Formats: sequence, structure tokens, C-alpha cells
Amino acid sequence: MAVNPKMHPVIAILGAGPGIGEAVAHRFAAEGFVVALLARSEAKLQNMAQRIDIDYGEGTAKYYLTDLCVEESINNSLDTIKTELGSIQVLVYNAGARRVHGRSIIDTTTEEFENFTKINLYGAFWSTKRVLPDMITAGRGTILFTSATGALRGMPGLASFSPGKFGLRSLCQIITREYQSKGIHAAHIIVDGPVDGDLIGGVARRRWEQAGEEEKLRNIDAYLVQPTDLAQIYWFLHTQPRSAWTHELDARSQNEAMYSKI
Ligand SMILES: NC(=O)c1ccc[n+]([C@@H]2O[C@H](COP(=O)([O-])OP(=O)(O)OC[C@H]3O[C@@H](n4cnc5c(N)ncnc54)[C@H](OP(=O)(O)O)[C@@H]3O)[C@@H](O)[C@H]2O)c1
Repeated sequence: MAVNPKMHPVIAILGAGPGIGEAVAHRFAAEGFVVALLARSEAKLQNMAQRIDIDYGEGTAKYYLTDLCVEESINNSLDTIKTELGSIQVLVYNAGARRVHGRSIIDTTTEEFENFTKINLYGAFWSTKRVLPDMITAGRGTILFTSATGALRGMPGLASFSPGKFGLRSLCQIITREYQSKGIHAAHIIVDGPVDGDLIGGVARRRWEQAGEEEKLRNIDAYLVQPTDLAQIYWFLHTQPRSAWTHELDARSQNEAMYSKI
């Protein structure tokens, strides 16, 4: 059943959680997009879709339960989105995962390496492959990959994470070389530091709360990347004129010190 009768442009966010994923969803919804949210946890997706609908109107967001480690699950969701909402104009591959406490290569099992690489890289390959034909037919499309410092530097403990992100960077370059001339704008966004969300940044925030680090908590945006600020970058990339397309950029908070080595 079609649920986008006014044919608003469609953005699909693969790996939609309460951090970057939701912030990007709100940013594009504010510009008139309908938003397809893909992840595994129904309760979280339902809440996100509700919040978007409250802000931007009933039917602005729909969610699709998807395991991004499984090609068939991705294909089913992307095909359903096409039927229900229309062809996808913007694909954001935002999912990514790593161990909080890294392991050395010797201690990393094949299964762990495979599982993390599936989420960090394979899901991006499978989803890109599925949306490209329609984007090429339309003569336009934006593909945005959320990435990390690990895409540029191998660090101890990141054996099951970095190779996938390096691959993601390479995949993005290949998309550009193969399809840029057909109107496809692909960009690789390196988030070079912890994000103020549930995961890595959340751990830091809780530590600072326990330690009473008031200055950091008062100036949290100087220490942790704010998802809503990052979301501006995604919109900026999508709306760049085709005479000046950015392929890769990085972002970090002012006082980032944990990962940055620039
Ligand atoms: N957080 C940081 O500090 C940080 C720092 C640098 C880079 N990044 C990058 O930012 C991206 C994530 O952004 P975020 O941390 O703000 O997270 P987020 O947008 O809040 O959530 C991402 C969502 O991805 C979903 N996901 C994970 N594995 C999945 C799978 N197999 N199938 C379907 N969905 C899956 C999870 O939802 P379900 O569990 O419901 O499936 C999760 O909520 C990643 O690419 C990460 O590498 C994050």
C-alpha cells in the first residue's frame, strides 16, 4: 500500500538509533523528506517514528525491522520501502559496531571478525547495490556512509572494527568512480571522536557525571560530537551543487583528545 501519496523525497537510514541516525532523520524530515528507519529493535524504532511524526506530521516516518548483517533482510526492507514510499533518493548507511574494550588479533575470533565486518561493511555493499539501479534511472542519488577514525588508522584492539571501516571508505571511493558521472553523490563521513549518545560518548558522559566534572558537562558540545550538529553536515552534503561535490570529510568536537591524531 502506498503511504506517500504526495511523493515526498525518500531517505532511508540504515542503522537508525537515537544518536546520529535519529538526528539525520529529523534534519531531512524538516526539509520535507519522508523517512524510512531501519534497525532491529521495534520499540526503539516505534518511538523514533512517533517523535518524527509529532514534529513533522503523521506519516513522515516509517520503520522497517531489518538485520543489516543479512542481505535478504536488507533487500526485503528496501523493496518494501520502494513499494510503500517510492524510490529512495538518499541512502544513509549509519550502522557500525565495535567492541568497547578492544581485543588483540590473537584474541579475536573468526566469528567476531566476520560479524563486525558484516555490519560495518557488507551491509553497506548490499544496500548500495540494491538502491543504485533506481538512482541511476533517476539520474540522481545521494549515498552517505557514517564512518569513524578507524577507517584511516589501525589501532591496537580494533582488529574486528577497523578493517570494515577501511573497506567502507574504499567502497565509497569506488561508488564515486563508477557512478558519479551518472548523478550519484557518495560521501564518507569520518566521525573522529565520541558521539553524545548511548554508546561511547554516553560512557564518557556517565564517567564525568560520577566524577563531578562540571566544566565538561556544562560544555558538553566541546567534548562530545552532538548528533544534531553532525546531521547538518549530512544535509549540507546532500544539497551540495554538482559542480562542487565533497567525497569525504571529517568532524570532531573542539576538545577531542581520545582518538584524534591530526
Ligand atoms: N557513537 C560514537 O561515539 C561514534 C564515534 C565515531 C563513529 N561512530 C559511527 O556512527 C555510527 C553510529 O551512530 P551512533 O553511534 O550515533 O548510533 P545510532 O544512530 O544511535 O544507532 C545506530 C543503530 O544501528 C543499529 N544497528 C546496529 N547493528 C545493526 C544490525 N545488525 N542491523 C540493523 N541495525 C543495526 C542499532 O539499532 P538496533 O540495535 O535496534 O538494531 C543502533 O541503534 C556508526 O557507523 C559508528 O561507527 C560512532
